[in-house]
Amino acid sequence: MKSFYESQQINEKKLFELFKKADDIRANLKKYDKMLSGKIMATLFYEPSTRTRLSFETAMLKLGGKVISTENAREFSSAIKGESIEDTIRVISSYCDCIVMRHYEEGSALKASKISSIPIINAGDGKGQHPTQALLDAYTIFREIGRLEKIKIALVGDLLSGRTVRSLCYLLGKFSENEIIFVSPENLRMKDDIKQYLDKHKIIWGEEKDLQKILPKVDIIYITRIQKERMKKEDYEKARGKYVINEETLKLVRKETRIMHPLPHVEEIDLPIKIEQEDKRIVYFKQAENGLYIRMALLLELLK
Ligand code: CP
Repeated sequence: MKSFYESQQINEKKLFELFKKADDIRANLKKYDKMLSGKIMATLFYEPSTRTRLSFETAMLKLGGKVISTENAREFSSAIKGESIEDTIRVISSYCDCIVMRHYEEGSALKASKISSIPIINAGDGKGQHPTQALLDAYTIFREIGRLEKIKIALVGDLLSGRTVRSLCYLLGKFSENEIIFVSPENLRMKDDIKQYLDKHKIIWGEEKDLQKILPKVDIIYITRIQKERMKKEDYEKARGKYVINEETLKLVRKETRIMHPLPHVEEIDLPIKIEQEDKRIVYFKQAENGLYIRMALLLELLK
């Protein structure tokens, strides 16, 4: 694997190798602190980010490498002067050893990887994919539940714009007897390409409107934000507030179930900080932390 632009590129064996490496890095951080010494990673972000950009940058620094960055490339790179993504990538790839890129256009990471002489890592391409998020999501499920097969998971919220749920479906589709329940507002349903992929891989999936009915029945609740910035105002108003985890709905969740979210969360999670900190079912901050170790493992895979 030279570049990582979609989660389908990872097979089961590679996924578990990355998990093992991430566990080892977490336990023996010092052993890894010079492994990428002399390497430079560029972060090229055309859309906002907290977790993905900063965890990649931290990952590179903890591995002994260096980072160059443009955090608002849409405005503060020469894209504003009309430079094409191809030219941008050609130039940056002569300065460094890998590029972590978030772009507003679906397919941009694949396009960049075709022109690049160095690895491109897709940090989110429009409504397309967010494959490193899927790695950390799968890693979190494995750490919390102990398996990646026979998982019953509810994917909740904006399934039309949400690239994290798409990438996660591609990974879950590789393991047997998983069952996926899509819970979304009518106007933000999962697209057919993912449903067809799941059918092809004999993964049971269904759609459900009533979140309360689903909450007591699943191993994982993976809830997502309604992506206001990717839709018309009237679609947002129609969809917002339909599915919320709060103190009332949390009562319906079994003690073994885990609640995940790619973050940032807004009104779809309405819980006091004390509950978020103390309730073992809530793992979305652990999930974000897991991203650091899995991204360190991925950088080693691509650059070592
Ligand atoms: N989960 C995620 O991609 O978060 P950021 O947008 O903050 O990077």
